[in-house]
Amino acid sequence: MRISIVGTGRAGSSFTLALERAGHAVRLLHHDELGSIGSCEVLLLAVPDDAIAEVASQVAPSRDRLVAHVAGSRTLDVLAPHPRVASLHPLITLPSGELGAVRLVGATYCVAGDPAVLDVVGSLEGRIITLSDAQRTAYHATATVAANHLVALMGHVAALAESAGLCLDDFLPLAHQALRDVGEVGPHAALTGRARRTAPLADLRLRMERLDDVNAWRAYADAQRAQGRRVGLVPTMGALHAGHASLLGEAKAAGDVVIATVFVNPRQFNDAADLSAYPRTPEADYAVAEACGVDCLVEPTLAQMWPDYPRPTSTTVSVRGVSEVLEGADRPGHFDGVASVVAKLFAITGPCRAYFGEKDFQQLVVVRQMVRDLALPVDVRGCPIVRDEDGLALASRNVRLSAEGRTRALALSRALGAVSGAGTASGHRRRMLEVLDAAGVEIAYAEVVDPLTLAASGDDEEGERRALVAGVVEGVRLIDNGPVTLVTKESHALSN
Ligand code: PAF
Repeated sequence: MRISIVGTGRAGSSFTLALERAGHAVRLLHHDELGSIGSCEVLLLAVPDDAIAEVASQVAPSRDRLVAHVAGSRTLDVLAPHPRVASLHPLITLPSGELGAVRLVGATYCVAGDPAVLDVVGSLEGRIITLSDAQRTAYHATATVAANHLVALMGHVAALAESAGLCLDDFLPLAHQALRDVGEVGPHAALTGRARRTAPLADLRLRMERLDDVNAWRAYADAQRAQGRRVGLVPTMGALHAGHASLLGEAKAAGDVVIATVFVNPRQFNDAADLSAYPRTPEADYAVAEACGVDCLVEPTLAQMWPDYPRPTSTTVSVRGVSEVLEGADRPGHFDGVASVVAKLFAITGPCRAYFGEKDFQQLVVVRQMVRDLALPVDVRGCPIVRDEDGLALASRNVRLSAEGRTRALALSRALGAVSGAGTASGHRRRMLEVLDAAGVEIAYAEVVDPLTLAASGDDEEGERRALVAGVVEGVRLIDNGPVTLVTKESHALSN
């Protein structure tokens, strides 16, 4: 077959090598080379999930060509307006082109759409499972849990092992055996004979509670605590993606009874258009939460959370200082809205731990400061940023970017990458601004700050700090951040 593959990341290069070795005539193209796809019989889109629809729409429809994507999360409608469409998602990880090409042969593929896709999978000796659109979200969340959460869990094993003066390798044979047992006899039977107290960790298949009433939600959390269980809260605004799934995985791995909330909080939006454009995907959120083993999903109504809305509440939680800089300077009132709703979520749920993504680094700082100031009995856990294969930090708003906008948005993670070596605060700022500016991002800020107080760092400072960048691309406000190391000009000169 003549196959053109669009996307030069790990998926694109893995498929290129594997399909060439299977005897196909394959051309690998970057997504700005769509003009040269030629007269292929199969066009395989191996671009980031959010970019599939945009790339597909740039190719002329033809009955002679099958257009397929390799994403687990997307249904076939993203391939409109092509007459023959399909998807093939390999249920394996693709760490590099070479390793991926080996793994693709004989892998399990989840396929949908035009039956011609079966020939492609057949040529790779793949095992086939078929998928309907209705099953898609739950399927993808399950794959995320099976791959990422297992890895996160092993991260905890490594940390625990270390605290006992041992190492992960000492426990790997036990973990391999446990996984083989699950394969042979299923999770429930595999638990028999193991310590019963591991059950809350392993039993991800308990039915999930779904509540929208504040009193029922409070009663649920009270009942869990009364039984001696620790409640973990994962507050979200929905449109759940792998970043949220990682928070849920952390909570699950810590052994908490996990309560996840989905509430698009209008009080933290200072732009009505942004609020109405905010993605809302309740059914998909339900499937993700369930697949992640959430014990109780709470989706309170606006009337339940803010009965006075749109009138302001008499009580507002305002965390001075850390709320007023960076995002707070450009979005007045935003962090008051965040702190007020998080305080209320804490008051209703009474969690022992609460999980927030480091992607919203300033939010994490604001929440931690609030917890310190009010002596709230909550352990606030920050969880690492989850990125797409190309480096873009996952965010619900990313779906609003076109393929071109997405490429431009990559400048944020590139700017942070440009300051990965030690340097002065002003040197780091200049470097980040240059990268953002060259990409045509409408810059909001590029700062180096103290990670606890968010005070801007000076050139006389040394040590670990946080770099934060923000900008607007196609009307979408994007943020990203990462750790940086500061040295003064003098010690920099001495070390060189
Ligand atoms: O990060 C978010 O999604 C929101 O700011 C939060 C913490 C759920 C409060 O509305």
